[in-house]
Amino acid sequence: MCGIVAYVGDRTAYPILIKGLQRLEYRGYDSAGVALINDGLHVYKCKGKVKDLEEHAKGKSITGNIGMGHTRWATHGIPSDTNSHPHISMNGKFVVVHNGIIENYAHLKKGLISRGYTFQSETDTEVLANLIESIYVEQKVSAEIAVRSALTKVIGAYGLVISCSDEKDKLIAARKGSPLVIGVGENEYFLASDATPIVEYTDKVVYMDDEEVAVITKDSFTLTNIQNDTKEANIQNVTLSIDEIDKGHYEHFMLKEIYEQPLSIEDTFRGRVTMDHSKIFLGGLTEALPQLLSTKRIIIIACGTSWHAGMVGEYLFEEYARIPVEVEYASEFRYRNPVIQEGDVIIAISQSGETADTLAAIKMAKERGATIVGICNVAGSSIPRETHAGVYTHAGPEIGVASTKAFTSQVTVLSMMAFLLGKMKGSLAPDNYIHLIKELGKIPDKIKKVLESDEYIKKIAETYKDASNALYLGRGNLFPVALEGALKLKEISYIHAEGYPAAEMKHGPIALIDENMPVFVIATKDKSYDKIVSNIQEVKARNGKVIAIVTEGDQTIKKMADHVIEVPDCHEAVAPLLTVIPLQFISYHIAVMRGCNVDQPRNLAKSVTVE
Ligand code: AGP
Ligand code: GLU
Repeated sequence: MCGIVAYVGDRTAYPILIKGLQRLEYRGYDSAGVALINDGLHVYKCKGKVKDLEEHAKGKSITGNIGMGHTRWATHGIPSDTNSHPHISMNGKFVVVHNGIIENYAHLKKGLISRGYTFQSETDTEVLANLIESIYVEQKVSAEIAVRSALTKVIGAYGLVISCSDEKDKLIAARKGSPLVIGVGENEYFLASDATPIVEYTDKVVYMDDEEVAVITKDSFTLTNIQNDTKEANIQNVTLSIDEIDKGHYEHFMLKEIYEQPLSIEDTFRGRVTMDHSKIFLGGLTEALPQLLSTKRIIIIACGTSWHAGMVGEYLFEEYARIPVEVEYASEFRYRNPVIQEGDVIIAISQSGETADTLAAIKMAKERGATIVGICNVAGSSIPRETHAGVYTHAGPEIGVASTKAFTSQVTVLSMMAFLLGKMKGSLAPDNYIHLIKELGKIPDKIKKVLESDEYIKKIAETYKDASNALYLGRGNLFPVALEGALKLKEISYIHAEGYPAAEMKHGPIALIDENMPVFVIATKDKSYDKIVSNIQEVKARNGKVIAIVTEGDQTIKKMADHVIEVPDCHEAVAPLLTVIPLQFISYHIAVMRGCNVDQPRNLAKSVTVE
């Protein structure tokens, strides 16, 4: 999620907040705001960039030496001035900025409404602001106690900075799942989502831990947990340069985003799978559920990597929900005269939510009566605004042009949709439904294990960095992973690569095989394992070089392939989520070794908003 900056000290807060938010721009966001607190409360916030916020605040009072700033990556409520942060509680007692997701916000909001609370925005954050105020007013406790008490009722992730109008000299901060760093200055303190906005003022920082609460004045700060047990503040020296912090310790955003996938997939689950992994809730589908349960056909429309995710979706919906699926390139679909039948459901997949071809295709389908469901990563972007229903991927900002965490979050959403629809339609037995949800729930930890192979995969990449061509093979729901691996290599290393259904090789591509052709084969244990083993033997019989992605402990393929990359055993339904990770690493390391611009590859844009 996005960015937070706060300050308490003797300096004027506003310039520190603005500069701090600019330092966090790399995190990607859709709106920004500041609150200046102790010289009269001034809140300036708007949709857009930090420069739009500065324009918005121009000529207004910007005094005060305590304040907070926020850049938003919308999860609940479209990007708009009203939904921007900071949020003020109904009676003006509390000002809050928040990074993260309050999963149980709807339940909390219902209770607050029944106690007379009203809301200005659609966000989960405003619910938290009113919850804190309701406890503060009703229980007549200190601001700090009201905050801690409120947080015991919250399920979800948060990085928070809070101010109370009756205790203007202090800031309260809390974190769980969204980072917060305290900057320790001389009679001044800073708070931020990472050290970037802090390092020019002090190199002393405290990285807050989950479920910690800090109370900060310009003279001192205290650290406790939510239960008010005192916590030891571990003051460290920041050694990173500003440039390094922009990407954390990663050389490129793409690498950072590859490593973020355990967390981004957990964020995709957040609030949608019960803690015991026994049920799926996809509230965003409600408007389209009747159509999804009765439709005779789903048409998935997307481009590029999102189209590959759609191809995985085809296997999932047909296998588990028994719904016929067609997957269409948006650019082709929009220009032919497709047959759209009564009851058809279109699923539009797009990370940016702005891809021109996908947007045009769904507008056309909508005009012809189809129900449109979106799977997007940017709340309030153009495509979600055209849909009847949808599920946000909540993968957080994806900065690298080559899509990685968006793909795995898209496949996670498609998996949850297929399992839920299968259960509701009776095509997926209840115990199998629960088993699949649990298998999906294990993926973040299994991806962490695959991430440990980074250095090993880098060595393999060294062997093939000068190849002119490459072939990627997979079967079943791993064929789309072969397509995705080939696209990754093409778009960032500029090596020509093709993905193919492994069985198709004998219908032409096998003519390409020789000792110069690296062939990446996704060969984890599933129903077509024996067939893919034969395909590997066919490649080896023609001196091709085989790099196989295999299930941990596979001894068979180890004997025939030139390299094997092991991934943990998993149910075949979720294998695409694991097997794509090594292919992301392969393309990343080869591109770096070839001196390519990994985050901004030539000729490419992160969002193709033109035809
Ligand atoms: C994938 O790595 C590329 N950046 C590109 O193919 C991308 O997936 C495609 O342009 C679709 O973008 P979207 O998901 O934002 O619609
Ligand atoms: N969930 C909050 C919102 O949608 C915060 C999002 C963020 O992390 O920026 O406003």
